[in-house]
Amino acid sequence: MIFVSICIGSSCHLKGSQKMVELFEEKIKSENLDDEVILSGSFCLGKCNREGVTLTVGDGINEEIIAGVKPESFNEFWNTKIAPNLNK
Ligand code: FES
Repeated sequence: MIFVSICIGSSCHLKGSQKMVELFEEKIKSENLDDEVILSGSFCLGKCNREGVTLTVGDGINEEIIAGVKPESFNEFWNTKIAPNLNK
């Protein structure tokens, strides 16, 4: 199971966090991953100075903060940070 938290603080909101939420929801639905990828929102993660949205990805124990993710690079993000960790 993978836990993804998308920053919905005001700075990330302006940089596309709502779009990121939509992209995640669509992908999770289309691949039937409701039980695999758990999506949530978080308050500001303190990385607002980066261009793009801040997210955390974790396994419930450890989590990685990844800043500067743009909606345009969603597929790349998914393929490098989410897909390789599925079904483990
Ligand atoms: S608003 Fe997202 S890191 Fe600050």
